[in-house]
Amino acid sequence: MTPEEEAESLRSRLEQWNAEYYRYDAPTVTDSEYDRSLNRLRDLETQYPQLLHPDSPTQRVGAAPLEGFASVTHALPMLSLDNAFNEADLAAFDARVRERLGIQEVSYCCEPKLDGIAVSILWESGELRQAATRGDGTTGEDITMNIRTIDCIPLSLSGHAVPELLEVRGEVYMPRDGFEKFNARARAEGTKPFVNPRNAAAGSLRQLDSRITRRRPLAFCAYSLGRVESGEMLPETHSETIKMLSGWGIPVSGLFQVVTGVGACENYYSDMAKRRDDLAFDIDGIVYKVDNLAQQERLGAVSRAPRWAVARKFPAQEESTRLLDVEFQVGRTGAVTPVARLEPVFVGGATVSNATLHNADEIERLDVRVGDMIIVRRAGDVIPQVAGVVQDQRPPESEEIVFPQHCPACGSVLLRQEGEAVWRCNDGLLCPAQRRGALAHFVARRAMDIDGMGEKIIDQLIVHDLVGDIADIYALTFDQLVSLERLGEKSALNLLQAIEASKKTTLAKLLYAIGIREVGEVTARQLAAYFGSLEALAGASPAQLLEVEDVGPVVANNISRFFQEPANLAIIEKLVNAGLQWPAIGEGSGDGMPLSSQTWVVTGKLDSMTREDAQERLRRLGAKVSNSVSGKTTCLVAGPGAGSKLKRAQSLEIEIIDEQQLLARLASLES
Ligand code: IVH
Repeated sequence: MTPEEEAESLRSRLEQWNAEYYRYDAPTVTDSEYDRSLNRLRDLETQYPQLLHPDSPTQRVGAAPLEGFASVTHALPMLSLDNAFNEADLAAFDARVRERLGIQEVSYCCEPKLDGIAVSILWESGELRQAATRGDGTTGEDITMNIRTIDCIPLSLSGHAVPELLEVRGEVYMPRDGFEKFNARARAEGTKPFVNPRNAAAGSLRQLDSRITRRRPLAFCAYSLGRVESGEMLPETHSETIKMLSGWGIPVSGLFQVVTGVGACENYYSDMAKRRDDLAFDIDGIVYKVDNLAQQERLGAVSRAPRWAVARKFPAQEESTRLLDVEFQVGRTGAVTPVARLEPVFVGGATVSNATLHNADEIERLDVRVGDMIIVRRAGDVIPQVAGVVQDQRPPESEEIVFPQHCPACGSVLLRQEGEAVWRCNDGLLCPAQRRGALAHFVARRAMDIDGMGEKIIDQLIVHDLVGDIADIYALTFDQLVSLERLGEKSALNLLQAIEASKKTTLAKLLYAIGIREVGEVTARQLAAYFGSLEALAGASPAQLLEVEDVGPVVANNISRFFQEPANLAIIEKLVNAGLQWPAIGEGSGDGMPLSSQTWVVTGKLDSMTREDAQERLRRLGAKVSNSVSGKTTCLVAGPGAGSKLKRAQSLEIEIIDEQQLLARLASLES
């Protein structure tokens, strides 16, 4: 291939991918593959300047606006960012900046690069007037009605010296938990899930009917100014500008940091890379901006990107790889999940060789076959998923995936309930896979917390028929345990001790451990607090169950069915006879405890304990622990890195304490 031919082929491929990404929200390649091709084209154009066309994808961003929305011409162009892929790229950026400015050291504002959709929002006399997408950087789409539906974006600004005209640029994104919930619902209802939160945000913003956008869990974070008309002096630095926006009620990232020199920029990068999985939203890198605005001005921009900023990308959370096979796993509730076996690929900071395909409908929706190139996504602590198929790379020998009709573990016929997406084995504890799942769930740390009873031991207990149900764990003897492979006398003793120790538990933990379908930790806690005793819960009518927060008709039905099943009652009786005990809970919901009737929120990073431990200790004192700050919040515990929750608590004038203060309070209350 001549350089001309290669450049032409790259251009048409990139154009195609651009349209898929920006216009149809349906990318067929990963960001990293896109970036590789774009970089290759840029290299070719640098080497052979005659190949550079003004309409090359290296010269512009996005695609033309969709029909249906009015066009908006941006007063100032909406630029994109150049990428730095490694330390050397970043050092080269810093060297260029210093050389152009003729100074030795530059202060940079480091910020997370949010993975969403760039928008511009205009407030006039403090009132939200117009909002637009970036489009091609010059002209975007008018999405005012949709932006108005996003809760965290103020319709009118508050605070001191709000400009007559204020245009703000930032990113609309979908936080991870909202994305997971949205997709879970889509899968259960048989509608199409989104590949990733970015596409979900794009698809949601692009709705011509803003009532649909309203129902999508979107958020916004401002990262720069557009046009401003103000009688007042504006700040001299970017970081001060961001603080000023926050003062007017506009959401900004609480994670930015101003540092001097490229070494400190690297430290920020590695620090954020470590925290990436714990953030509530996807970030795909770090943006470094020259903090001084006069310096920014002197540096200016080249075609599509400013010279004063650069994006340093994180390792991709999506990659393409080959689907080698599909296996079917039976979970503890009998649900059969197709699991994709993949050619190992490094994605989201780990090597991934398995990913979930969720259910039969998902296989059909993705139109995936064994042998396909697929897109695997791994973000945060969510299980890796097959997010898409690269359809034009399907090999001729690809094979259809056939969903089994019989349980792969026990051979019984699989059934699917009407309206449900999953096929289930209904053999309950007679099915070894379900028995294994039930045991693993029962002994887990968040349930009965039986340390040392790992999967290998559970497998052996089942193979040797030493446990039939969860309660049989309490009848295990030393002789039985030492007879297992790879379990010495010491370990057997330790395990027996752990089993004994687990008998002292809480009602909430027990309710979670016994594995009532769809009763997770939170629901179990709420049930325990509401009913106070196992007897009260077991005797509750569906109507009473519906009184409990978070319990809907499906969960209420699962609970009452569970307690009507004689086999389950027999297991509970066995557990009680084995000596399981839990402290009684006072009438109502933890009345009389030091923090009862209080609602606490914990955010940011804690040093001496995990956030979960802190929440657990607060709960044990009777507090309700919530994930979001509202008027009902009593107190916010904020560690370093706290963001929007801290801002919200400040604006609602809610008490805010740090980790040291929390420790002091816990110490005084826990005695
Ligand atoms: S500054 C002229 N800051 O990344 C500077 N962009 O790849 C324009 N992005 O178009 C952008 N987080 O959509 C900036 N903290 C941040 C950002 C950010 C995400 C997006 C933005 C931009 C794209 C460039």
